[in-house]
Parts: sequence; structure tokens; C-alpha cells
Amino acid sequence: DSHSTLSITVVGASGDLAKKKIFPALFALYYEDWLPQNFRVFGYARTKMTDEELRNMISRTLTCRVDKREDCEQKMNNFLGRCFYQAGQYSSEEHFAELDTKLKEKEGGKSSNRLFYLSIPPNIFVDVVRCASLRASSATGWTRVIVEKPFGRDSESSAELTKCLKQYLTEEQIFRIDHYLGKELVENLSVLRFSNRVFEPLWSRDYIRNVQLIFSEDFGTEGRGGYFDNYGIIRDIMQNHLLQILTLFAMETPVSLDAEDIRNEKVKVLRSMKTLQLEDVTLGQYKGFSKDDPTVPKDSITPTFAAAALFINNARWDGVPFLMKAGKALHTKRAEIRVQFRHVPGNLYKRNFGTDLDKATNELVLRVQPDEAIYLKINNKVPGLGMRLDRSDLNLLYKARYPREIPDAYERLLLDAIEGERRLFIRSDELDAAWALFSPMLKELEEKRIVPELYPYGSRGPVGAHYLAAKHDVRWGDLS
Ligand code: BG6
Repeated sequence: DSHSTLSITVVGASGDLAKKKIFPALFALYYEDWLPQNFRVFGYARTKMTDEELRNMISRTLTCRVDKREDCEQKMNNFLGRCFYQAGQYSSEEHFAELDTKLKEKEGGKSSNRLFYLSIPPNIFVDVVRCASLRASSATGWTRVIVEKPFGRDSESSAELTKCLKQYLTEEQIFRIDHYLGKELVENLSVLRFSNRVFEPLWSRDYIRNVQLIFSEDFGTEGRGGYFDNYGIIRDIMQNHLLQILTLFAMETPVSLDAEDIRNEKVKVLRSMKTLQLEDVTLGQYKGFSKDDPTVPKDSITPTFAAAALFINNARWDGVPFLMKAGKALHTKRAEIRVQFRHVPGNLYKRNFGTDLDKATNELVLRVQPDEAIYLKINNKVPGLGMRLDRSDLNLLYKARYPREIPDAYERLLLDAIEGERRLFIRSDELDAAWALFSPMLKELEEKRIVPELYPYGSRGPVGAHYLAAKHDVRWGDLS
């Protein structure tokens, strides 16, 4: 409403994520009239900068990418006029008090809500929430804090981080981002399942043979080698992004669309899963990884690629392999969910497929990026007098059907945090359950110093991924 103000503070304002994602997302929300009338954006970081310098920095990354209109430039200037900067250390109560004074001054005595985005390394999360005394901030309305992974390296360190954060914040104040949950196709998973009569009845071990969650990037760690070497691909992508997609894919129908109901179902999936063992994973590292960043040791065995087989021990999914594959420096940039259905029993057209029934597998593909699409591979008669079959796609290509550009994941998530919608954020019990699945295996990998298989930059990854899939009678859909 017009009487209250919203102050959004980006802590770590000069960092990469802030520049590339957060400021542009805030501008896009403003441009589309999603922000309350009375909002301001504050940058906080160690670098000395004036408001003007912050504005210059931000302005370089803003675009009117959604429905570019004539008022674009005007809107940009208005937005920049609402951006302010405060320099300070991350562990200084005094400097955060200065920020607080600045916030109050701009809020002009109106009732105020405050959102803090901690776009900083996790080892200083706790310093910041303590020094900024965010639990009892001087806001008269709510104070919320967005944090972004890594949330620890394993069960223990994650629990420790949660414990420390909860000394200074309530669980209601904490918004743990997994930006994959803000992606259009991931959000659409529930719509697809629960608002169409045709999919949900097939959504079980009775019809589905395996599910594949695939993430690949066609570039290496690019200057993030130091961070990456400490975490590896399993922690960077699988334990969060891919696992989150898996839980949404596999969960039972929630009681309602409320955040708690959805997250209750997601947690149940995680708790029904088999804890990963060494034999459930295979690792790779692209050649040249250790040369990517001077801080990466030459003999680093950090995986930049991994494939894993996961199982959900419940009535719906018993025995169905959920295969994950994630890698950097591969031949393509893509994220997708592939669902392979069972063979048709007593298939009348068997002989049309030769001996390879896999060629006749129905496959549903949700391409999360790039070029969002949902398509279903079906067998079809090639028109003509003979009886020749081929596989063809029923294809919903987003850019053909919905010409409007799709908002960035951060826009959706920032808006949700502002509106107090927690559906797409990770609850602490969910985080614990996610770590519990991966932690013992990660520990063993590291203790035994399991060496990843090297693969060439730009290739399709190590052959180990095929062996792992074959062990479960699966062929990767993206390679066939
Ligand atoms: C981040 C990972 O969470 O996601 C990065 O830390 C990865 O390593 C990125 O590159 C991928 O996100 P997107 O949205 O570009 O697919």
C-alpha cells in the first residue's frame, strides 16, 4: 500500500551475482510494475563507492528485455534514482548501524518492510546477520533475509550454519534460494501433473521405467575454480538443483498449494530415498580444470562431472531409477527432465522396431533451458500405403506458443520473498534431508580420494556415466 515502504538491501552489492542477476531482476520487477510504489534499493559492500558510482555500475547491466517499450530509458532512470549505496565491513556493527540510519532516513518515518539479500560467501552469513541485528531490526514491518547456497558442505556443517543463523533469525525470516525452483518449466511441473488428466495416472512405477535429470554446461568453472574446487559438482548442482526438481517430480499430491503443504510432500520424498553409496555414483573431471584458476591445486580430484542413481523407496516409485547427470565443460548447455516409459506389453508392432525396443520407448521431455519446451515422443505411422513407423514429437515449444520473453528465475523468487510466499524456498528440514542423502557418500569419496575419470573439454563427458546407467538398464535419452 502507499503508506508503507520497502527497502531492499543487497549485501555484497559489488559481487558477480548482484550485478548479473539481482539488480537486473529488481529492475525487471519494477519495469513490470510488480514492486510496491514506495521501494528503494540499497547496496552494501566493502568497496568505497558513491550512490552515483553504484548507479553507474548497475546501469551497465540493466536491459528492458521484457516487451521493450518507449518508456524504457525513463523507467531506468527512475529506478536508478531509487538506488543508494553504503560502504562497510561485513563484521562491523558500527557500519551496519550506519546502513540502518540510511534506511530510516530514506523511509522517512513511514512503516517499513525490509528485505536483505545476502549475496556473499556463506562463511560471513552469520557475521552479517549478527552485526546487522536483523532479528530486531528497526523496521516497523517485516524483515526477511534471502540466502543463497552453499548451505554448508555436508550434514554437519549445514546443521551448524542453520543453528548459527537461527540464533539471530527466526525460520520465518530465512528464505533459502534455490534458483532452479524459480525457472518456468520447473514451476510448471506441478501444473503439468496436477491439472491434466493424462499424466498423473501414468506417474508411477507401473508406467515409468526411469527418470533422468540432466544438467550440462558448455563452459568450465571460469574464474570460480577456487570456490568450485572446494565443493565439486555434486554439491554445486545435484544436492540442490537436481534434487529439488526430483522432489517436485516425485511428490504425492499436496493437500493444497500452500507452501507448507508442498514442502511437507517434498520432505517425504527425500526421507523415503535411499542414501547414496559409492557404487551409485561415477565421477569425471575435465582436462585443464586445475589450470582454470591459480588457486586450484594441480592434483585436484574435485569432480566437475558426476552421474548418480537414486531410488525412492515408496509405493509409487519402488525400483524406478532416478538418474542424475551434471557436468561442466561439456558439449552443450542444457537442463532437462526426461521420463522414459515402459515398453508396450505384447507390442503388436514389435517387428517394426527391429530388436531394439528402446527405439519405441515413449519419452516425455521437459527442457528447462535453453529454449524451453515440453515434448512427448510417440510412435507414429509414416503416411503411405506401407506400414512404416517412426518416432515423432508432440511438441510444445515455448517460444512458438508464448512469444513473450520468460522472466529470469530471480525475478520470480525475489517477488515471492517480497510477498512472503515461501513455496519455492527451502525449509530447514528439507535442507537437512537433502544433505543426509549425499553426505556419507561424499565423505567416503573424499576419504578414499576417489579419482575422477578425465574427459576432454567440450566432450559428452566420461564413459563411466554409460556404465552406471547400463547397470540400471537405462540409456541416457539425451545421447540417443
Ligand atoms: C549455480 C552453480 O547454482 O547454478 C553454477 O553454482 C551454475 O555452477 C549455475 O553455473 C547454473 O545456473 P543457470 O541458471 O545458469 O543454469
